[in-house]
Amino acid sequence: MAGKVLSVVNMKGGVGKTSTVIALAETLATDPACSVLVIDVDTQANASHCIAGNDKLTEIIQADKTIDDFFYWRLVENDRRSMDSYINRNISLVTHLNQPLKISLLASSPYLRITEREIIYKLTKRNLSMEAIEGQTIHLLAPIVEQLRQHYDYIIFDCAPGISAFTTAAMMISDHIIVPTIPDFLSTLGVAAFTASILREIRQQRPNLSANVLIARKNNTRHHAEHHKIIIDKAKASSGTFGVFDTVIPESTAMAQAMNFMDGTYTQKYSKLSDVLSNLATEIRGLK
Ligand SMILES: Nc1ncnc2c1ncn2[C@@H]1O[C@H](COP(=O)(O)OP(=O)(O)OP(=O)(O)O)[C@@H](O)[C@H]1O
Ligand SMILES: [Mg+2]
Repeated sequence: MAGKVLSVVNMKGGVGKTSTVIALAETLATDPACSVLVIDVDTQANASHCIAGNDKLTEIIQADKTIDDFFYWRLVENDRRSMDSYINRNISLVTHLNQPLKISLLASSPYLRITEREIIYKLTKRNLSMEAIEGQTIHLLAPIVEQLRQHYDYIIFDCAPGISAFTTAAMMISDHIIVPTIPDFLSTLGVAAFTASILREIRQQRPNLSANVLIARKNNTRHHAEHHKIIIDKAKASSGTFGVFDTVIPESTAMAQAMNFMDGTYTQKYSKLSDVLSNLATEIRGLK
């Protein structure tokens, strides 16, 4: 088995990145043969909350088993510890066909921001440039993720809004980038900025990295319909720089509520959205 690595990323906040990560991880894991690892590199720790729940996440944070702790020891203290003990295996309480979904989590915590700053501060004091720090982060993560591919069918990074060394590293070691966006004026500007700057930069080193925009939180207004079309037209004009998934995630209270649904069946959790999510999972499985 060699699993696929996906990064869900957009510099713009609130466009549905985390909701996409959770819904996609859970939908892929409805296949009993499929195991998924979610890696949360966002200090908001939203994905960690959604998967582990508040109490379990507090336990993980108190036990120092979050990604920021791992990064700190490996990057700043040059400690050789392995990532194994940081992964919370099969932590999901959501079930499908009477079996818990096979979802594991490498959690984040609000300390990630402090650690990232601390790492940058300490390493720049050792005369390392930002580029070198990004390089070290990639150098650390790449072989670990390469090994994890042997154990998981999908590894999905939930990235923070903005761009950080960790987001860059996640993108650099991914097979596919998913860019959720709301089809409105400002979010469309955000997609244009992302594809023209960040994606272009990453592609210099990863020319074949695939990137697809996912229209999320779409409502029935003309404004959204127009911007959905603008994004499709931009993708067509981009000569393959990025594509657009056919699947569209509608703006729906059910999706927002699903993020606060910890314990029950997948079908209860997503009810009417199951078909849309199943289409998205099919598109993801088909990515080359
Ligand atoms: N399809 C949807 N329908 C309705 N509400 C949604 C939908 N998708 C996401 N939301 C809501 O929109 C808000 C932002 O979603 P989410 O946290 O997934 O975005 P994000 O891009 O991860 O945000 P951030 O940039 O802060 O990490 C949340 O309150 C979420 O519940
Ligand atoms: Mg998020």
